[in-house]
Amino acid sequence: MANHPLIEKFQKAGQGHVFAFFDQATPAEQRRLLEEAAEIDLGEVARLTQTLLKQGGAAVALDGLAPAPYEPRPEHGGDATAWAEARAAGEAVLRAGRVAAFTVAGGQGTRLGYDGPKGTFPVTPVRAKPLFQVFAEKILAAGRRYGRPLHWFIMTSHANHAATEAFFAEHRFFGLDRGRVHFFRQGRMPAVDFAGRILLETKSSLALSPDGHGGSLRALQRSGALDLMQREGVDTLSYFQVDNPLVRCVDPAFLGWHVRRGSEMSSKMVAKAYAEEKVGVFCAQGGRLTVVEYSDLPAALQRETNAAGGLRYVAGSIAIHVLDREFVRRMAGGGEGVALPFHRADKKIPTIDAAGAPVRPDKPNGVKFELFVFDAVPFARAPLVIETLRADEFSPVKNADGADSPLTCRNDQLRQFVRWLRAEGAAPASDATGLPAFPLEVSPLFGYDEDSFADSWRRLAVKPRIEPGLYLE
Ligand code: UTP
Repeated sequence: MANHPLIEKFQKAGQGHVFAFFDQATPAEQRRLLEEAAEIDLGEVARLTQTLLKQGGAAVALDGLAPAPYEPRPEHGGDATAWAEARAAGEAVLRAGRVAAFTVAGGQGTRLGYDGPKGTFPVTPVRAKPLFQVFAEKILAAGRRYGRPLHWFIMTSHANHAATEAFFAEHRFFGLDRGRVHFFRQGRMPAVDFAGRILLETKSSLALSPDGHGGSLRALQRSGALDLMQREGVDTLSYFQVDNPLVRCVDPAFLGWHVRRGSEMSSKMVAKAYAEEKVGVFCAQGGRLTVVEYSDLPAALQRETNAAGGLRYVAGSIAIHVLDREFVRRMAGGGEGVALPFHRADKKIPTIDAAGAPVRPDKPNGVKFELFVFDAVPFARAPLVIETLRADEFSPVKNADGADSPLTCRNDQLRQFVRWLRAEGAAPASDATGLPAFPLEVSPLFGYDEDSFADSWRRLAVKPRIEPGLYLE
């Protein structure tokens, strides 16, 4: 086999098989494999193999676990004055240009099974706008409302970066100033088999996958995004996922709670729909706020009820956060005691066998390592959780059908449009769940929440007929 210091390093680490077909490869293939191999932190792979594979990972400690406190919405008994003050504070921060939107869009979207970056998936009921357009228009509208165009950071993966950029260029950035839309790639991790051997995808490439949404913190730092924010006077990031078109991309009340409390990382919760719902749960433990994954919360605790008969562990995490720029920098630095932990996900990973023939496994054959952004919560100063209403803000597109699918998301958008219209006395007939009999759509440029919708609606000299295919722009 060819002599190369990197190959020797891999051999010493027990990963020499990565280069088993190196001598058969073309020079270009060899270069690519060496480049990929150079990205790998062999010490980290060995450490993760030891802790997550051989020792099976640390069990989640449950002693002293309690439900996390959160700020309930005024309609659920929260302090209406405090919410109004928070909102005013958030609007001031937006008017001062201190906020940027941040979308994590580096996932593989395997459950949806759509060929292309998930953000390009069409979701709206009449115009079939893609997810990215929905966010772009919300961000554009918020920029206009507060008199300061927002910067938008979008984290992609190696696999979808070029396609994402091309999509925005093709659609002229949906009306946004292209100088304020910033794409950067997240990091990758090698997949390993159950013995910790790095898997090859082909004879000359490694099985690499994105390092999880938690990789966003180090990617923001590495890409120079944090420095750019600093130069632009942005110190607050509004974080959301690419799959949830209902999200308020920038929410004044949420931003205001965050700033007024001096929080470094704030989160939104919705009340869990039922005990076993597969969402992480905000908990308190040893004076810290944490998110416990549903799979780590024992069934007895999931089902526990309070005096009023409601779920005790009720605060479901929906992956909407506000992050301080300097907190991200500190976490990304990964100094002693502040590193996010890796999680193990057993997956079916396309690979090759010892003879180099492709293998498409029908059951998990290896492990991917991922970082989760909510693991940063316990490291934050004054972390805060506020309530939001599921109907207003959470309907992700995860699966091709069934729960959290394009159909459920479309229906949730329709119900939201109906609620906004109803508040103005103009709702179409709808069924018991609030679903109208025909499709209609509100552009975020007309209204992206109840208030902005009401403002635009009241300005219309002539109100439109509420009829099938209505599109308000
Ligand atoms: P999901 O947990 O839904 O994962 O990501 P996914 O990869 O998109 O989809 P599946 O599990 O393969 O079906 C939640 C959010 O986090 C982002 C996704 O793009 C989505 O916005 N994400 C996830 C990343 O940006 N990077 C990752 O490595 C993983």
